[in-house]
Amino acid sequence: MQITILGAGRVGATVGRLWHAAGHDVTFAARDAARPRALAAELGEHAHAASVADAVAGAEVVLAAVPGPAVTDVLRAAGPLDGRVIIDAANSFGRQEVTMRSLADAFPQARWVRAFNSLSVSIMADDNHRKPPWVMFLSGDEEAKPVVAQLIRDAGFDPLDLGGIDDSQLQDPGSVLWTNVLTHDEATALLAAVKSGDTAAVDQSALRTRARELAAPFEEFRDHAPDNPAFFLEHLSRSVFEAGISWRVVEAKWEGIREAFHGFDPVQVAAMPPGEIAAVENDSRVIRNKAKIRATVGNAREILAILDEYGSIRGYLASFPDAQAAAADMRRRFKFLGDTGVWRLLTSASRDSG
Ligand SMILES: NC(=O)c1ccc[n+]([C@@H]2O[C@H](COP(=O)([O-])OP(=O)(O)OC[C@H]3O[C@@H](n4cnc5c(N)ncnc54)[C@H](OP(=O)(O)O)[C@@H]3O)[C@@H](O)[C@H]2O)c1
Repeated sequence: MQITILGAGRVGATVGRLWHAAGHDVTFAARDAARPRALAAELGEHAHAASVADAVAGAEVVLAAVPGPAVTDVLRAAGPLDGRVIIDAANSFGRQEVTMRSLADAFPQARWVRAFNSLSVSIMADDNHRKPPWVMFLSGDEEAKPVVAQLIRDAGFDPLDLGGIDDSQLQDPGSVLWTNVLTHDEATALLAAVKSGDTAAVDQSALRTRARELAAPFEEFRDHAPDNPAFFLEHLSRSVFEAGISWRVVEAKWEGIREAFHGFDPVQVAAMPPGEIAAVENDSRVIRNKAKIRATVGNAREILAILDEYGSIRGYLASFPDAQAAAADMRRRFKFLGDTGVWRLLTSASRDSG
């Protein structure tokens, strides 16, 4: 099959390699031609680099592996889509939410399917844990779904159909199905529980899979994150602020929160005097939750203690035998950080790592 991959970053490169290995002809495109060319050179025969418009013109299937807000831009640059199957792998973390429905309305000549967005790329790239194959969710255009289901199998995963275009919210960031490493039976049971509103079953399944979920982002974070205490404090604080409220609310205020907390430099945050903390508690740019604001200052102090003890954040993370042990220590040390908070910290930090 002639497949074009828009975006030659982590997801584009990973899925492109998998499809190429399965015998497909793969063309990469991005704004800067360097990565697409490097990938085409790495893979050799049946791999190419092209401009977005040329790449899409020659494709039967297109994978959009660009940041969520860029999907619309890149497809506008692509020219006529004429019945092509477009797989949307993008997630929208910011305020600009892009739904399957809005994409299908904006580009009605394409056949839209959402897939590859709900597993972390470190899981997709990892050869060692695919027996049984991990489940990849998909939803969208009924005629295009069988094509995409086969491409999911070709990439080494087990496709699980969530439904039509309007069911894609089940695989959005924050839904229980997102970045959830599941076997086929677990996924089928979880999906049935979600659809029937059985929250106890959903919670139980979340607990069972959490151990596995933590492992991949923890390893990505430990091995590839910038060894930078401010990076760590920023992700930790985002997790603290997101506790109990929508991540969208936090996202909308994040620039203000970052400014109020000195770009999350732990030395400066740890040294914030009571008067400055009180001013932040009344600052409309910030989410004015006293406990979370004080937790952020306390957590900066705890990071300084970690740096004293281990020399670096990487040294701290590398001191644990596994993700569970690291998670237990983080819950003990940091304020306002429970199980879900640790999970949020690890997944967001690992996403921004490397
Ligand atoms: N990382 C994960 O674990 C993961 C897992 C599943 C899904 N996703 C989703 O998949 C998407 C890609 O993630 P990623 O981690 O692969 O990101 P990434 O490594 O930052 O790569 C993004 C790619 O998109 C290209 N790009 C950005 N804007 C573009 C535009 N307007 N036109 C053409 N190309 C453009 C970039 O190259 P240029 O800047 O040169 O254009 C780059 O090659 C995101 O929506 C993400 O949420 C990520």
